[in-house]
Amino acid sequence: ADGDPAKGEKVFRKCKACHMIGPDAKNRVGPELNGIIGRKIATAPDYKYSKGMTEFGETHDVWSAELLHEYLPKPRDLVKGTKMAFAGLKKDDDISDIVAYLSQFNED
Ligand code: HEM
Repeated sequence: ADGDPAKGEKVFRKCKACHMIGPDAKNRVGPELNGIIGRKIATAPDYKYSKGMTEFGETHDVWSAELLHEYLPKPRDLVKGTKMAFAGLKKDDDISDIVAYLSQFNED
């Protein structure tokens, strides 16, 4: 089902401890997330990724909505060795909403 970007903005509060998005977003603990839907994995300029995420990027292509639905419930299960220290989002609807929110920061 399609997500609700307004709800997704609220869910994104959980990500903001480590990630920025929008105009002037910078890398923090985690990489900036502008254009993340469809962005090649582990390619934010000037961000130092873990070996785990770098290798994941070598065997996978871009962050699609589908891949985020696999990643966000338990990031360290999908990407072995990732340094993203986040337990995960349990509710699939929350992930749909966050994908809708993140999509607003893609150029189209
Ligand atoms: C990486 C999303 C929460 C820290 C990433 C990536 C995505 C993402 C898509 C891969 C980026 C890329 O390939 O360029 C999210 C979302 C979150 C969230 C949607 C909330 C639901 C967090 C939190 C932290 C964090 C709370 C810190 C405690 C990181 C770090 C990386 C990363 C350090 C780089 C991972 C590595 O190199 O292994 N995140 N994140 N994230 N995130 Fe998050």
